[in-house]
Amino acid sequence: MGARELLERLSSEHSLPLEGYRELVEGFSPETAAAAAVMADGVRRSVYGTDVYIRGLIEIGNICRNDCLYCGIRRSNGSAERYRLTKDEILSCAREGHALGFRTFVLQGGEGVFPLQDLIDTVSDLRKSFPDSAITLSLGEMERSDYEALFRAGANRYLMRHETADTEHYGRLHPSSMSFSHRIDCLRTLRDIGYQVGCGFMVGSPYQSPATLAEDLKFIETFSPDMCGIGPFIPASNTPFSSFPAGSVDLTLYLLSIIRLIKPNILLPATTALGTLEKDGRERGIMAGANVVMPNLSPFGQRRKYAIYDNKLSGGAEAAENLQMLSSGLQSIGYCVVSARGDIRKTI
Ligand code: 5AD
Repeated sequence: MGARELLERLSSEHSLPLEGYRELVEGFSPETAAAAAVMADGVRRSVYGTDVYIRGLIEIGNICRNDCLYCGIRRSNGSAERYRLTKDEILSCAREGHALGFRTFVLQGGEGVFPLQDLIDTVSDLRKSFPDSAITLSLGEMERSDYEALFRAGANRYLMRHETADTEHYGRLHPSSMSFSHRIDCLRTLRDIGYQVGCGFMVGSPYQSPATLAEDLKFIETFSPDMCGIGPFIPASNTPFSSFPAGSVDLTLYLLSIIRLIKPNILLPATTALGTLEKDGRERGIMAGANVVMPNLSPFGQRRKYAIYDNKLSGGAEAAENLQMLSSGLQSIGYCVVSARGDIRKTI
């Protein structure tokens, strides 16, 4: 079957055999990507119209116990300047975001940055101060009891990219202390507790292939996350992968479209990494089927320190305080930034 037929099949059945996904990835070309984007945009319009949901991203700290080979804030990067926000700083970021119209706050940080009780206190205070807003956590792998305590404190969603659904590939991106199976166990636990769950992966990470990407797509189909974050790999200085090439923006856009066809309702961000590699990357992501953007709400002085990869965008339309710039950019291509929690729509 050619890529075009596979796309047609995918849009009616929302599923392909593993081999079909591999052929679809191998069939990537500017023409197939353009066709996929048109189909995906139609699907997202039928579910979400032209609405684009915004999330205020608060990077709460870059201290990390993990040593992922691709990541600029990995433990053994001695040149990363480390920081940790206080509860008051986090609350004041959220206050500023709420005034700007944000109704979802994403607390993201390195793994093991904060003592659990500090996190619980922060989430409880956010919950009390902003009862109309969703609280999303993105803080890596924890014990079930910790996830439960944070859920009870008021967190609603959890983002944790699976990074790659191929076990062997996972082993080449991470130290041996980490495992794909543990990560997936965490994602299942989070869902079981009641969180809305997001997974995701990098496009063009070292040693990735059409076969590993096919496994990612199959994983998304079967796990059926509420959200999925994908963005191009971008080399980070002082990491073992610093001299690998960056992933392709065009392939990322093609995969965004494919994911929209697999899961019409999914919440799909046009990520910062897309905007970092290309000036209009975020807009192109939305046109390819994405429906979420996550502007940076972190304190201005700390932003450059959350350097998971080089030259990470944090100013311009990426900055929450410039929401107007983002809104008008998206409006000029026919989409509308909305001030809403932006939960997944499950009715269609
Ligand atoms: N390039 C692109 N994305 C990266 N991430 C970490 N390091 C990089 C990099 N060098 C992504 C990972 C992680 C998310 C927070 O950022 O997928 O889960």
